[in-house]
This record gives sequence, C-alpha cells and structure tokens, in this order.
Amino acid sequence: MKEKVEKRGFIFACTEKSEAEFLEKLIFATNKVYAHKVFAIRKGDFVFLYNLDTDIIYGTFRAKTDGLYDRNLSIFNGRYPYYVEVEPEDKIQKIKNASKIFKKLNISWRSILNDKGIETLKMLISNTTAKEIKLNGIYNLEDNLFRPPIFSTTLWDYPKQSYGDTPKGNNKYPGVTPAFIIYNLLYRYTEPGDLVCDPMAGSGTTIDVCKEEKRKVIAFDIVPTRKDIIQADARNLPLKDESVDMIFIDSPYGDNIRYNEHPLNIGHIPATDERFFDELEKVMKEAYRVLKDGKVLAWLIGDQWAKGVFIPVGFKVYERLTKYFEPVDIICVVRRNQSSNTPFWHSKAIQHNFYLRGFKYLIIVRKMTKRKRKENLKIKWSYYER
Ligand SMILES: C[S@@+](CC[C@H](N)C(=O)[O-])C[C@H]1O[C@@H](n2cnc3c(N)ncnc32)[C@H](O)[C@@H]1O
Repeated sequence: MKEKVEKRGFIFACTEKSEAEFLEKLIFATNKVYAHKVFAIRKGDFVFLYNLDTDIIYGTFRAKTDGLYDRNLSIFNGRYPYYVEVEPEDKIQKIKNASKIFKKLNISWRSILNDKGIETLKMLISNTTAKEIKLNGIYNLEDNLFRPPIFSTTLWDYPKQSYGDTPKGNNKYPGVTPAFIIYNLLYRYTEPGDLVCDPMAGSGTTIDVCKEEKRKVIAFDIVPTRKDIIQADARNLPLKDESVDMIFIDSPYGDNIRYNEHPLNIGHIPATDERFFDELEKVMKEAYRVLKDGKVLAWLIGDQWAKGVFIPVGFKVYERLTKYFEPVDIICVVRRNQSSNTPFWHSKAIQHNFYLRGFKYLIIVRKMTKRKRKENLKIKWSYYER
C-alpha cells in the first residue's frame, strides 16, 4: 500500500519592495531567522505569499522543490539564501486584511499549516467575497510538533525527544539526547554544508538531525550502535586538526547509566571521583584540537544526586571547559520523561528532602580565533608598587 505523504502549508513574507520579484521569479526566499521553516518544505507542499506592507495574501502555490539554500542566490542581493521554487496551482488569487484573518483563525504567517489550515486558507483565498469568517479559531490549523521552535531565550523546553515524521536517534537508548537541542544549535552555529562532529554519539540523534537539516556529520562512540557511527575513543579521534565546524557532546554524567561494558567507557567512573572530570577534560582537549578556529562546542550535562550526595557536575564541567574555550552562553534545558518522573519518586523527594533533577545545562563555548589568541598574549601587564 502506498504511504500517505502528509502535505503542509507555508506562508512566506514579502514587502512592497520584494513582492514583484518573488512573483515574477516564482522563487520565495527568506533569511536565517526562518531557515528552519524553509528546510521543512517538501516538494508538493502548499505555499502562500504574504505582503507585510499591504496585508494581502497571495495563493495558492505548490512547492516545485524541497526547501533549498544557496548563499549566492541572486534574489535580493543574496540577503535571502533560503528559498523554494514554486508554481501557481491555478490562477493566482489574493485576499486583503490578512492579519484579521490570521487572528480569527488563531494562526500567524510564521505558522506551519496542517491539512485543515491549508484547506481553510485556500478556501478563503479562492472566495475573495467572503467577508465573514465563521471559524474563529475553533480548529487547530497548525502543525505545532512538526518543527521545534528556534529558542530566543536561555530556557529551552520542548515536550518530546523527537519531532517531525522521521526518527531522530532512538528514544529507547538510555540517555538519548532530545533532538530539538541539536536542531537549535545547528541553526545558531552552523550553515548548511558545514561538518558537525559528535564524539559520543550513542543512538545517533546528531546524525539524524544533521542529515535532515542538510549539514554533514561525523559521529563516533566507544561502542557504536549503528553502521554510520565509527568506533573510536572520544579522547583520541581519527580526525585532522581544525577540521570540523561544530561539536556536540552529550557525555555520561557519572556512572548513573550503564551504556555498555567497554572498559574505556567514561560512564563507568562515578562523578564523586575526580578522575571522571580528568577523563572528560581529555575529551575537551581533543575537541579543541579538531575544531576550527572561532567555532562552537556545545556540551549537554546534568548534575548528580545519588546516595545522599550532590555533585554539581555541570559547574565542574564548565570549569574544565573554560580552561580551553571562551564561554558563549549556558542554556537551561528542561528535563522531561525521565524515569524518576513518577508519583513514587516525587513523594520520596519530598519525604527525604532531596530534589529530582529538573534541568540540564547546555554549555556553549567557542574556540578563540588565532587573532584573538594573539591579542590576548599581547596584553602587557603593568606592575604597580604598593
Ligand atoms: C548520553 S550518551 C549519548 C547519547 C546520544 N547523544 C544519543 O542521542 O543517543 C553518552 C555516550 O557516550 C559514550 N561514551 C562513553 N565513553 C566514551 C568514550 N571514551 N569515547 C566515546 N564514546 C564514549 C557512551 O557509549 C554513550 O553512548
């Protein structure tokens, strides 16, 4: 039986200046802010054009291509490198007062529309005399879980480990990384075509996210769980110096999870033992070696509370990281669906006065550029007599 492929609806914004060029070339383009939306477009999806100045929506178009990226795209002097080629489904029609329509339908032009949303917008555009919209947001017209948001604050929270219609990693793997974290990092710190490395790849979440977002990826683990993960120790990677554009690491947080029995698995050392941090520091040094100048390493880590002892693993990892890298930021990632999220553990935590882990740290650091390193060395220290 042929699988039913879900179609989605996308609204591109334009201005009075750009409208003519978009409609003439039948290329709808945008910048980095909406890049993640463009890469969600598949050939055959429905597309609309919204003029922000005149408040008019044009439709209906179909995507002739998947969402694409071309940093040399001539449209609008290369300012909009993310684009899709479209063709009108029929005669191009338009409807005024779009913002009122969006409000009534409880959507925005930034929404990704589901079947019902596409149908509603198409119906409104083809019937330009429709004055009264009776729907008033009674339906959910958006496909909210298809693409995670790009977060603008340091608090990242998403309801599920994965998103979209293809698997990302394996949510049965102990300690699997929430895919939206890698997705957000890619849009912040890389460009399509960049090479991303995950030295502790586990079930391969980084690989799946990178492929879908058109980034190259190379992944290692001490015990590979799939063919596209290379067997290697994260402290000694088979990579050239300064060869990757971003590194993502979700390391063990101590010995709380039994990933595998390999003797070189760092997850056999408890976080109460300083050797655990010494071994992670070797991973950091190796990451520094293979990362290109000015590029980012993001490290996901959680604190440990075990057998009555609290270990601030996040702070300790941050301390070690900043021996080599300069800090960029720290994100608080909300923990969901962890095994201790049960009434049993909640009552234990209150009864015995301890806390269940509610968040992880995503520590983002950067390898200083050579120029910056040189400038730092040039600082002349003055000594003043007391
Ligand atoms: C938290 S898991 C990674 C989860 C992964 N990001 C995913 O989404 O499935 C940590 C991983 O580190 C790996 N690991 C532990 N010590 C290692 C080492 N010395 N070199 C490479 N990988 C190692 C473990 O085998 C485990 O798969």
